[in-house]
Amino acid sequence: MIKVKSHIAAMGPYKPPWTGLDRSGYLRLDLNENTLDPPDHVKEALKSYIDSNRIQMYPEYEQFMLKLSDYAQTDSNQLILSNGSDQGIELILHAFLGDGDIMMIARPEFPIFTQVAGVLNAKVREVSFDENMDFPFNAFMDAITSDVRLIVLINPNNPTGTPLEPEKIETILKKYSHIPVLLDEAYYEYTQATSIGLLKTYPNLVITRTFSKAFAMAGLRLGYIIANPEIISQLYKIRGPFDVNSCAIAAAQSQLDSPGIWKAYIKETMTRSKPFLENFFEEKKVRYFPGAAHFMLVQPQNRDHVVSYLKDHGILVRPMFAPLIEKTFRMCVGSMEQTKRFATVYEKYLQEFYP
Ligand SMILES: Cc1ncc(COP(=O)(O)O)c(C=O)c1O
Repeated sequence: MIKVKSHIAAMGPYKPPWTGLDRSGYLRLDLNENTLDPPDHVKEALKSYIDSNRIQMYPEYEQFMLKLSDYAQTDSNQLILSNGSDQGIELILHAFLGDGDIMMIARPEFPIFTQVAGVLNAKVREVSFDENMDFPFNAFMDAITSDVRLIVLINPNNPTGTPLEPEKIETILKKYSHIPVLLDEAYYEYTQATSIGLLKTYPNLVITRTFSKAFAMAGLRLGYIIANPEIISQLYKIRGPFDVNSCAIAAAQSQLDSPGIWKAYIKETMTRSKPFLENFFEEKKVRYFPGAAHFMLVQPQNRDHVVSYLKDHGILVRPMFAPLIEKTFRMCVGSMEQTKRFATVYEKYLQEFYP
């Protein structure tokens, strides 16, 4: 029997929700994706890229890097592309963590961090969010010891939606200036909250972002890291030279050139759909944790029952299993039309089972 390393054999597998189900026919509120079809200009950009007979060539990134540095308002030597921000996270953990090294993170967190730390046989020191899903700032600070090798902050956190105040991020960067701080800004476009301005002062800051959410490109896998040029040059040694595919670049270029549709969608989700949904849950007395981005945790009386009812009525949400949130499901907010559809089904559920 061929054996993998024992610490990898000891790990549990990552299980995406609804494995084996064709999600395409559902209203998908389960994975924090963009809930609309990709804009026509993106589809056209992909078709014309394919028609230009270049998929047989290895990808070239130079032009796109200039466009991205313009969008991210940073120099291109402060950027590296990644195959989804999952790979960005993986590159950073590979750069800073080895056998037995300690990574600090607040729990419940997005699972890729503990998965990659597990692969590297690093130790994860977790501090739990409090009952209201607030960031456990004091306990987190107290738990950081001088032997910590990487601090992970997610702003806003997935799955709790918890925002992290810029002052708190700066306090951590300043106090632990000898420790790299990975700041995940996957939902930046929804919250407009970024700590990119701190990069000049704090060379220990490393930011990850993604094209999977606001840009409706989760299936194409594109993310990027923003950090000081010395860190970026180290990360280039870890990433493969062509890990990001050229179709992702063509689509991302089109989204950056024509931001009208994705910006309007974000505005609709954040200023109309989310307040509508919050009102709905208030009215119906369903407990929820709104968070800062376009997704929220909902804690109904019987979580599994609601989740399967919604599924039977064409709507996917994600039941959560981590401690603290094991009675909740996470859902993202889509367009107004989709949100009203969700509310109609949920209301029907309440009428049927809690008249
Ligand atoms: C906080 C956070 N980071 C990273 C990711 C990974 O995104 P991707 O690999 O699709 O860029 C996600 C996806 O849900 C996320 O919520």
